[in-house]
Amino acid sequence: MLRAYAKINLHLRVLRKRADGFHDLLTWMQRVDWFDELEIRSADTDGVAWSCDDARLGPTADNLVIRAANAFGERCGVRLHVAVRLVKRLPQGAGLGGGSSDAAAMLIGLARMHGIASNDARLFEAAADVGSDVPFFLGGGAAIATDRGTVLAANPRPFDGFATLILPGFGTSTPRVYGACRPRAMETEETPPWGRSWKDAEELSLRLENDLLHAACAVEPRLGALWGRVNGIDDVRVHLSGSGSTLFALFDEEAAARAWAARAESALTGAGDVATRVVRVLSD
Ligand code: C5P
Repeated sequence: MLRAYAKINLHLRVLRKRADGFHDLLTWMQRVDWFDELEIRSADTDGVAWSCDDARLGPTADNLVIRAANAFGERCGVRLHVAVRLVKRLPQGAGLGGGSSDAAAMLIGLARMHGIASNDARLFEAAADVGSDVPFFLGGGAAIATDRGTVLAANPRPFDGFATLILPGFGTSTPRVYGACRPRAMETEETPPWGRSWKDAEELSLRLENDLLHAACAVEPRLGALWGRVNGIDDVRVHLSGSGSTLFALFDEEAAARAWAARAESALTGAGDVATRVVRVLSD
């Protein structure tokens, strides 16, 4: 079984809208210790035989795992004969990159099966064909992503700690959130948040921003209402991951993350379908 980890965007700047309709970004991404699992076996039949414990995820044209298989076949000139089984745990439309991570796991599994090196450029091209977040998951760990999110560099100063995730029972539409965002026309950031060390998660958290937060709350007012309930509890800042809908807060210690999760849950009483989860933020 291959693990397909979720990610959070600790920091996300939307720099400008591009001619191709995408936006140039500057974002700090790290994997977190929560994952789907993907099993790939060779099969006698042509194409990709699909099975998943979540019946909502079928082998449709918009399924990122199927799209990854097709992109791999095209980029590497391979005809596929595989059976794939996905154990789905990560929420969808959540800004945690679950579908993108599943797609990357598919590419990694297919590359192993066909004797293609994990750093082969065709894998990265296939990943970028599938979605802006997919190349990150080929490498994982802690990265700074630029361009559409597809150009990656290692972050020399990853965050080592925990995140309390606030998981709304609804997702947000990435195209709609980007559509509602006004780029800040900022060419360079003074010093990026990872550019100098921090004393603790609280100090780091004060430097982090997500330029999609206001757009996401405008597109999905229920998200704004949830953010308003949890942001600032015990002076802890709450951030948005990607284009939402997941919100998170950072902590150095697991016990502090759990204690804050309990405080957040009390504040969310009566707010509808929303859960919390404490995860370790991974740097490898
Ligand atoms: O690449 P991905 O399929 O995840 O992008 C989904 C949508 O999000 C795009 O169609 C675009 O509307 C928006 N997007 C963007 N700029 C990015 C990434 C995504 O505008 N860098």
